[in-house]
Amino acid sequence: MSKSALITGITGQDGSYLTELLLSKGYTVHGLVRRSSSFNTGRIDHLYEDPHEENRSLVLHHADLSDGVAMVNLLRDLRPDEVYNLGAQSHVRVSFDSPLYTGDVTGMGTLRLLEAIRASGIDTRIYQASSSEMFGAAPPPQNEHTPFHPRSPYGCAKVFGYWATVNYREAYDLFAVNGILFNHESPRRGETFVTRKISRAVARIHAGLQDTLYLGNLEAVRDWGYAPEYVEAMWRMLQHDTPDDYVVATGEAGTVRAFLTEAFAVVGRDWREHVEFDAKYERPSEVDALIGDAGKIETVLGWKPTVLWPDLARLMVQADISALEAELTGATVRIDR
Ligand code: NAP
Ligand code: GDD
Repeated sequence: MSKSALITGITGQDGSYLTELLLSKGYTVHGLVRRSSSFNTGRIDHLYEDPHEENRSLVLHHADLSDGVAMVNLLRDLRPDEVYNLGAQSHVRVSFDSPLYTGDVTGMGTLRLLEAIRASGIDTRIYQASSSEMFGAAPPPQNEHTPFHPRSPYGCAKVFGYWATVNYREAYDLFAVNGILFNHESPRRGETFVTRKISRAVARIHAGLQDTLYLGNLEAVRDWGYAPEYVEAMWRMLQHDTPDDYVVATGEAGTVRAFLTEAFAVVGRDWREHVEFDAKYERPSEVDALIGDAGKIETVLGWKPTVLWPDLARLMVQADISALEAELTGATVRIDR
C-alpha cells in the first residue's frame, strides 16, 4: 500500500518541492489550500490533476490554519500516514505589521493541527516547520541545544509551535518532530525575501527594465541553503524510528552584502551602482547572524547539503534571467528547479 501525506502550505516554496518529492516516492499527496480571490497554486500547477480523474495522486482541499474544525474533519476523513505543517505567515518583516495574525496562523495554527490529530484519533506522524528565527539573538553557531531568543512576532509564534509540538510528543506519545530549518532558497522563493528580491532585480537590471534596487540592512548574516535539499531532510525525519528535533543548515554563511556581490557578478555588474537604502525594509529588532550546526542530522539521518550560498546566488540569478527572457518573448515558462 502506498503512503499518504497531508501538506499544509502546499502552495508555498517548500510545499511545492515536498509534493514533487513525495509523488516521486509513490505517495498520495493531499494539500491544504486557502481560499483566495485569484489563483495561488502557481508553484504546483505543473502537478495538478483534474478532480474528475480517478485515483489521483495529488488532491487539493480548501481549508485554513485558522479553522480548527475544518482540520479535524479533513484529518478524520483522509487519515494520512504523515502530516507536514508548512503553512504559515512566514515573512518576518510582515509579522511586525500583522503580529496577531502571525501569532494566530503561525503559532496557534500549529496547536490547532496537533489538537486536530489528537481529537480525530488517527495514527499519523507530524513534521513541524520550525525555524532558525527562534534563535534570534543567540550567537552562532546555533544547534539543537542553543536557547531560543526570538526577535520578531514570527519568531515568537514559531517558538510556541515548537514547544506545542514537543508537548504533544511528550503528553500523547505522538510521533511529532521539529525541523529547525535555517534559511533556504530557490527560484521558487517568494519575491519579497531578500535573495529572490535580489535575483529578480539583477535579471531586470540586466534586461534594462529596472535601474535601482531598494534594500534594508546589508550586514545581516544568513546561512542560506537550497530548498529541494531541505525538503528531503523533512521527509527523512518522519521515516526514522523515533521522533526527534533536528537543525537543518549548511554551516556556511554570508552577509546580504556578499550575496549581492555574488548575484550582480553573474551579469558583470557592481551592485553599488544600483542598490539604495530604504529604512522601510529594516526590522524593529533584527536577527544579526544565523549560522547552523547540522551535525546531528548528518550523524543520525545521513543528511548533508551540497549547495552552498554562492552557488545558490548564481543559480537563482540564472533562473530569473531565463524566466524573464521567456516572459519577454511570450514563451510559457515553468520553474523546474
Ligand atoms: P512560503 O513560501 O511563504 O509558504 C507558506 C505557505 O503557507 C503558503 O502555501 C501559504 O499559502 C500558506 N499559508 C499562509 N497562511 C495560511 C493560512 N492561514 N492557512 C493555511 N495556509 C496558509 O514559505 P516556505 O518558504 O515554503 O516555508 C515553509 C514553512 O517553513 C513555513 O512555515 C516557514 O515559516 C517555515 N520556514 C521557512 C524557512 C525558509 O527559509 N524558507 C526556514 C525556516 C522555516 P498561500 O500560497 O496562499 O500564501
Ligand atoms: N526581505 C527583505 N527585504 N530582507 C532584507 C531586505 C529587503 O529589502 N534588505 C535587507 N534584508 C535583510 C533582513 O533584514 C534580514 O536580516 C535578511 O535580509 C534576510 O531577510 P529575509 O530574506 O526576509 O529572511 P529572514 O531571515 O528574515 O526569514 C526567512 O528565514 C527564516 C529562517 O531563518 C524566512 O523564510 C522565515 O520564514 C524563516 O523562518
